[in-house]
Amino acid sequence: MRELLEPYRAGRLELANRLAMAPMTRGRADDVTGVPSPHAATYYRQRAGAGLLITEGVYVNALAKGGPGIPGLVTDAQTRGWREVTEAVHAEGGTVFAQLWHVGRMTHPSTLPDGELPVAPSAVAVEGEQIFTRDGLLDHVTPRELTMSEIAATVRDFASAARRAIDAGFDGVEIHGANGYLIQQFIGDNTNLRTDEYGGSVTGRLRFAREVVEAVVAEVGADRVGLRISPDNPVNQLAETDAPTTYRALVEALDPLGLAYLHVLENGAYGAIADLRPRWSGTLIANTNAPEPSSPEAGARLIRDGHADVVALGRLFMTNPDLPARLANGTPLAGPPTENVYGGGAEGYIDYPTATDAPGTPKSPAAAA
Ligand SMILES: Cc1cc2nc3c(=O)[nH]c(=O)nc-3n(C[C@H](O)[C@H](O)[C@H](O)COP(=O)(O)O)c2cc1C
Repeated sequence: MRELLEPYRAGRLELANRLAMAPMTRGRADDVTGVPSPHAATYYRQRAGAGLLITEGVYVNALAKGGPGIPGLVTDAQTRGWREVTEAVHAEGGTVFAQLWHVGRMTHPSTLPDGELPVAPSAVAVEGEQIFTRDGLLDHVTPRELTMSEIAATVRDFASAARRAIDAGFDGVEIHGANGYLIQQFIGDNTNLRTDEYGGSVTGRLRFAREVVEAVVAEVGADRVGLRISPDNPVNQLAETDAPTTYRALVEALDPLGLAYLHVLENGAYGAIADLRPRWSGTLIANTNAPEPSSPEAGARLIRDGHADVVALGRLFMTNPDLPARLANGTPLAGPPTENVYGGGAEGYIDYPTATDAPGTPKSPAAAA
């Protein structure tokens, strides 16, 4: 576990340890204004012992919003709300990146302004599954294909949201290219049926991802930009027939830019972390997605074996706000959350105790003896 607790420095990143809190949507922002929850500053401050905090996904324009209570980085009020979060994290010596998110087809007219249709690379619907909205679970609708000028505007919206993130005091931004949302919908074979320059070939399907990264880099500087990818990940009905070829090409194209990091979420038959590590010369953050929460032991092994520089953990950070301290002290960990994950207020959000708060939980093995 020692490996996870060592400091990490590269470029602008100066992390107190090699643990990142993975981005996790909590659905607690004001659903009308998209301003982060009044408890968000406390939630992130409580977890600022992570070397790197990555926020929940934050929408970059009105059609990018995936469900109730998702926060934005589009208006001045949202930007002010995030400033409270970054100030709280920095007061604890933490580092925090905002995750920039466009969900593409993974939303519903009842979530979007004026009941608009979701947009996507192509008019391909998610079949046989429902999506959570403020009116409960509803069937997916068929999205509308983005026009060329809308694609250009969406690229600019990622850059504008990145500018707002820096104005709000974030140390950087993570572009959400994972989990079957808009960027991966452009990459996937079953979601991108375009025959123009944004589809058709590996180069075409990667074009949107590259343009978003390049626009955000031009806006805020490469050393403030991370990219999250999830090669071969079937989540949200995405299919990639040749993930290794596709992601090797993406990594080869982006490596020279000098990004703050590449965040690889491994889920699928393709062993993406081990395959992409030697092809990426910068910082690599690793995360795995499985029914069980990723284990700190497995994370420490990834660092020991040279597969990752930093390891992201999600659910364990939710229930163990002082996770690095617990690992340092050998304190037992709370299990993953079972309720109050999405939506609501303080409950299940800022009331998970630290080891020091928890009655009857020993602070350290020595204290237990
Ligand atoms: C409640 C919840 C919300 C999530 N929201 C996001 C998100 O907004 N953006 C994202 O990239 N991944 C999101 N994820 C995926 C996590 O970042 C992570 O990949 C996943 O939880 C696996 O890591 P773990 O086993 O350590 O929890 C979410 C996961 C959970 C459990």
